[in-house]
Amino acid sequence: MAPALGDMEPAEAESVYFNEYPPPKALPKHEALARAFIELHVEANRRVVLVTSGGTTVPLETQTVRFIDNFSAGTRGATSAEYFLQQGYAVIFLHRQYSLLPYSRHYSHSTNCFLDFMDEAPPVVGAANQDDGSIVVRDEYQDQMRDVLRKYRYAKKNNRLLLLPFTTVAEYMFELRSMAKLMRPLGPNALFYLAAAVSDFFIPRNRMVEHKIQSSELPPEYEKDSAVGGEGDEIYTGENEAEPGSRKKLVINLDPVPKFLHRLVDGWAPDGSMVVSFKLETDPALLVYKARTALQRYSHHLVIGNLLSTRKWEVVFITPDAPHERWIRVPKARRSKSISGVEDQVGLAEIKKGGAAPTETRQ
Ligand code: PMT
Repeated sequence: MAPALGDMEPAEAESVYFNEYPPPKALPKHEALARAFIELHVEANRRVVLVTSGGTTVPLETQTVRFIDNFSAGTRGATSAEYFLQQGYAVIFLHRQYSLLPYSRHYSHSTNCFLDFMDEAPPVVGAANQDDGSIVVRDEYQDQMRDVLRKYRYAKKNNRLLLLPFTTVAEYMFELRSMAKLMRPLGPNALFYLAAAVSDFFIPRNRMVEHKIQSSELPPEYEKDSAVGGEGDEIYTGENEAEPGSRKKLVINLDPVPKFLHRLVDGWAPDGSMVVSFKLETDPALLVYKARTALQRYSHHLVIGNLLSTRKWEVVFITPDAPHERWIRVPKARRSKSISGVEDQVGLAEIKKGGAAPTETRQ
């Protein structure tokens, strides 16, 4: 039996993984856009950050109806991208399609619908046509919206923000590898900020079924096309033993996705660039241990740890140098109902320094 990708040396896993999948259709277009974007900023000696954001999916069928998703709204990535732009960086924003985007995130979330910020214009006293049907931003939102609009326009006009979408984990991996290699001319002006929630388990392509997995018996003439294997295969449907005669159960056997952080740090990324990864956990007892282990394993510069339940209010910075562990916390009084992240509360400048003085100390 062929060894699992997770058991191979990183370079071998890379060659096997990338040979198994066809590159995403959009990759050549994304590469052309990124090449031009990077050239422009190399010429200007500007720093460029690749921000990854949002969750990757793992399809269950080649013609995908069902998929497994990774949790992430894209708040961390979109918010951080705005702060990088404010700090003078150009940003390649590699994001899950339809997740939150820099600037528009203020008005695109379901609790922040842009329509709630608008009104019909009041009639113009004395004008021939008093109600011309135009719409305006409501008074109370003028200042904030003007501020966001100006920053958005500036980034667009000056070519500071490149938006590149992905959906599946394979697309993400191809895009990440290409972008990192294209960023080589930037040398130490390149930064990688890996906030995307990347799938840890997947179904290798050679074990994926082509068509939609069926949950009920089909007449024999259709069985061939929709077969998903029998017990012992990677995916199979079988009788639900608890309820004989009921609909079939689905059993899925997933392989570990190779961690390409090794390859990013040691192979793809330019010499002298900085790599920041994130570590997401749900168990507080594991977070610091897992973040430290990641830093030791991949020998990069910074791991930012966060817990699912508190990620908007606190993060921990794990660095190779002292103080090794530093918490950034938003004081309780400033924890608004806003959907934004800790970046909005403490600012990325503090994050860039390697961690603000903790606004609350660890108990
Ligand atoms: O978008 P929000 O709702 O604001 O949420 C933000 C966030 C919680 C998603 C974000 O802050 C975060 O923690 N992102 C990283 C999530 C993640 O993938 O964690 P992980 O522990 O599974 O992986 C750790 C690192 O390994 C990640 O930097 C990832 O890029 C990398 N990885 C993961 C899996 C994989 N197969 N290969 C990888 O290289």
